[in-house]
Amino acid sequence: MAGAVFEPEPAQYPQLWPAGFRRGRSCGVLKIDGVRVTDIAAEFGTPAYVVDEADFRARARAFRNAFSEAFADVGGGADVYYASKAFLSVAIARWVTEEGLRLDVSTGGELAVALRAGVPGENLGVHGNNKSVAELERAIDAGAGRIVIDSMEEIDRITAIAVERGVVVPVMVRVKAGVSASTHEFIATAHEDQKFGLSIASGAAATAIEAIIARPQIRLLGLHSHIGSQIFDLAGFEAAARRVLGLHAAVVARWGIAMPELDLGGGFGVAYGPEDDPLPVEEIARGLAEVVARECAEFGVEVPRVSVEPGRAIAAPSTITIYEVGTVKPVETDEGFTRTYVSVDGGMSDNIRPALYGANYSVALASRRSDAELIPVRVVGKHCESGDIVVHEAHLPGDIAPGDLLAVPVTGAYGRGMASNYNYVPRPPVLAVRNGEVRVLIRRETEDDLLGLDQG
Ligand code: LLP
Repeated sequence: MAGAVFEPEPAQYPQLWPAGFRRGRSCGVLKIDGVRVTDIAAEFGTPAYVVDEADFRARARAFRNAFSEAFADVGGGADVYYASKAFLSVAIARWVTEEGLRLDVSTGGELAVALRAGVPGENLGVHGNNKSVAELERAIDAGAGRIVIDSMEEIDRITAIAVERGVVVPVMVRVKAGVSASTHEFIATAHEDQKFGLSIASGAAATAIEAIIARPQIRLLGLHSHIGSQIFDLAGFEAAARRVLGLHAAVVARWGIAMPELDLGGGFGVAYGPEDDPLPVEEIARGLAEVVARECAEFGVEVPRVSVEPGRAIAAPSTITIYEVGTVKPVETDEGFTRTYVSVDGGMSDNIRPALYGANYSVALASRRSDAELIPVRVVGKHCESGDIVVHEAHLPGDIAPGDLLAVPVTGAYGRGMASNYNYVPRPPVLAVRNGEVRVLIRRETEDDLLGLDQG
């Protein structure tokens, strides 16, 4: 079969679109905050990522407010770090800072963007399972609020830098809670047999903590756990929190040190299609506050200040990708129906998620309204492999034709961030719409950009 017959009209499926999206009543064109996508395409070309700035900011603010409220009476309160790997630019770093969030960076490159944006060092959480000495130096010189330690080697590297600089470095220890998050194997991160974190069960985490406590140049703020990504229930967080707080309590009891913080990571799922049903952020915050308060009471420890690191839940739903249709090819399937392959001017270079994780997206005709009957389609890219799929199974009006514009919603996380130049395709621009105005956050790459790297 070709999946459920549906076209994600913004009016019918508002959960799949940024809040500022409508189909123009008279023109039939999709509009973002009053701006027609046809006008955006005419001015900036396609493909293009288009961010609804008000929607992005509202999602960031909703996280901050929900966690502040839920943790108001629970221990030391809560912080929200935007996980910048989902999508980062200078403007994005400023938006989240203005909305009261902190920033999680996981490479020197992300750190450079944050610093360019003027994010205060103390707002930065620095991740990575293999941070280089240069990256650590830069983070420490920037006065990063926390470096999240992921290996024994890192303890020595940080100590050496701290001795040289005469500073004390605040750190957390990333632990492997040993729970299996119900998500794709590549994005689950709390089971034992994967690269992130130090295992609680094997004693590796306790060994690292002991080494840190022995170094006066390193100040242990607490423990960090991230169980995975695109997770829809709180069960995995609950199991992880219990195990992490067990270790937290054991550390407090054994060494008598304060452990003022606890980070439960990100991973909150979003709806890519009508079948996905993410929890409202208020429910997530209340649920986590309950779990942390209960577990701390059980272990008899003070409730630490809790932090979370949402990336996708803030970035993904506020952005769509606009493509132009180039070819339309009916193909007889083995299952006995005709599937129409609709080729667009982008593909796996601007969204690798369908190829890498089998991720599902939906798609709508953006440049006009059509009353033609919906037909089964597969939206594919222009790259030289058959796995170059934009939307695996969808329906579009049967009169779909070259020159039509398509909109694929929920592409704001891990789209531009994971984009490549496969087949020497320049990466699309990121455009932000706010109050009816379009602003370029990241310009379109050019062939000159790509050829400029080639030394001949
Ligand atoms: N914190 C840590 C330590 C992380 O490693 C991640 C994601 C996050 C927070 C944010 O997770 P989020 O809230 O965005 O789910 N490329 C994959 C996702 C990789 C996630 C990597 N780490 C994808 O496209 O699904």
